[in-house]
Amino acid sequence: MLHEYAFEMAASNVRFGAGVTREVGQDLKDLGVRRALVMTDPVVARLAPMTTALQSLADAGVTAIVYERVRVEPTDVSFHDAIDFARAHDIDGFVAVGGGSVIDTAKAANLYTTHPPADFLDYVNAPIGKAMPVPGPVKPLIAIPTTAGTGSETTGVSIFDLTAMHAKTGIASRRLKPTLGLLDPENTRTMPPQVAASSGLDILSHAIESFTALPYSDRPRPDRPALRPAYQGSNPISDVWSLQALRMVARSLVRAVEDPGNDEARAEMILAASYAGVGFGNAGVHLPHGMSYPVSGKVRDYRAPGYAADHPLVPHGMSVILNAPAVFRFTAAANPGRHLLAAEALGVDISQVREADAGPVLADRITWFMERLRVPNGLRAVGYTSSDIPALVEGTLPQHRVTKLSPRPATPDDLAALFEHALTAY
Ligand SMILES: NC(=O)c1ccc[n+]([C@@H]2O[C@H](COP(=O)([O-])OP(=O)(O)OC[C@H]3O[C@@H](n4cnc5c(N)ncnc54)[C@H](O)[C@@H]3O)[C@@H](O)[C@H]2O)c1
Ligand SMILES: [Fe+2]
Repeated sequence: MLHEYAFEMAASNVRFGAGVTREVGQDLKDLGVRRALVMTDPVVARLAPMTTALQSLADAGVTAIVYERVRVEPTDVSFHDAIDFARAHDIDGFVAVGGGSVIDTAKAANLYTTHPPADFLDYVNAPIGKAMPVPGPVKPLIAIPTTAGTGSETTGVSIFDLTAMHAKTGIASRRLKPTLGLLDPENTRTMPPQVAASSGLDILSHAIESFTALPYSDRPRPDRPALRPAYQGSNPISDVWSLQALRMVARSLVRAVEDPGNDEARAEMILAASYAGVGFGNAGVHLPHGMSYPVSGKVRDYRAPGYAADHPLVPHGMSVILNAPAVFRFTAAANPGRHLLAAEALGVDISQVREADAGPVLADRITWFMERLRVPNGLRAVGYTSSDIPALVEGTLPQHRVTKLSPRPATPDDLAALFEHALTAY
């Protein structure tokens, strides 16, 4: 195998500032958009970010067609609903006002109406789908996040639950990156504390996973540049963004959750989400995310407080962080120095810590955040038992795109042991 010798930084356009949502109408106009599909979910539809965005479109003379049925944690079924709606309207651009669920749905509606595939799974990640490349540019999409978490405003990734498989998968292409992300700390003020905690812990895991991922130079070299994946493995540019995101999370996550009126902490968290997005959008995530997809997809009856969903749900950030401590105890052996640097960026004094303790030290720092933010104590607390582990392992195996970026390869037996450890977190 020829090893990869290059890495690439795909830039993301973001604009940060309190009140910047007011600029969206003028931005659309400057992009030549005259009729925009404004997508949101039923809760955010009633909140200030949506009112402000719609007023801004009206002021700029841009027609808004509103779709407010985005499903929290979208599925192929909910994607179809959004795609059908988009197809039925004459539009030349998109605005997403909401969390990752909304931004990902808007990316899919944009792709599937601009370049309709023969089959829905054509663009979906292999081996579940065919991972066909997106054939050309899509329409302008402006993303206005209302959570501080996914970083979806910076990434070319759209995640959904494939209902038939009860597992999450997604579509990944640099062409899906939003044209612009508007980072407005005013928009996260109304997040319920559980949403702030879960989405904030998603940032934390994005940053550690991309910083500890397999180095890009350990991946095989692609035959041509277009085949170089967006998730390239850890690389010197992603490292900068990921480590800085961890420092920001250490300073501001708890303060932002416990006091939504803390403007400084909220501002730092919405920036941290994008920083980590740039980090993992170029480096990738690994086992905590790969293992989270069946944890979300196979949910039975757990209902997350603070989430306004009419269906059982293990929220994305929660499903990721529940696996994270077990994973980093396991992966630390591959690159203990990096696990220690991540712990240090999260505020641990590592001067006296031996490399052999890197895994437990980082894991303990994560469980400190989980306990303080009242995250359920392990997979058991969201309804899983040992008897579910074979199905959880089965659901993780097809997530090649991310699991192969683990710095330490995990066999099915390793994954079973990791899920077993993740049953109780702290
Ligand atoms: N594309 C990517 O790169 C990427 C990365 C990570 C996660 N994701 C995906 O994103 C989704 C999760 O997104 P999320 O964590 O941002 O949450 P979300 O979009 O699912 O929203 C969570 C809940 O918070 C509510 N909400 C959102 N903003 C609010 C506000 N300002 N005030 C009050 N309530 C608000 C929503 O109505 C919903 O009930 C998952 O499907 C996940 O798989 C995508
Ligand atoms: Fe995530």
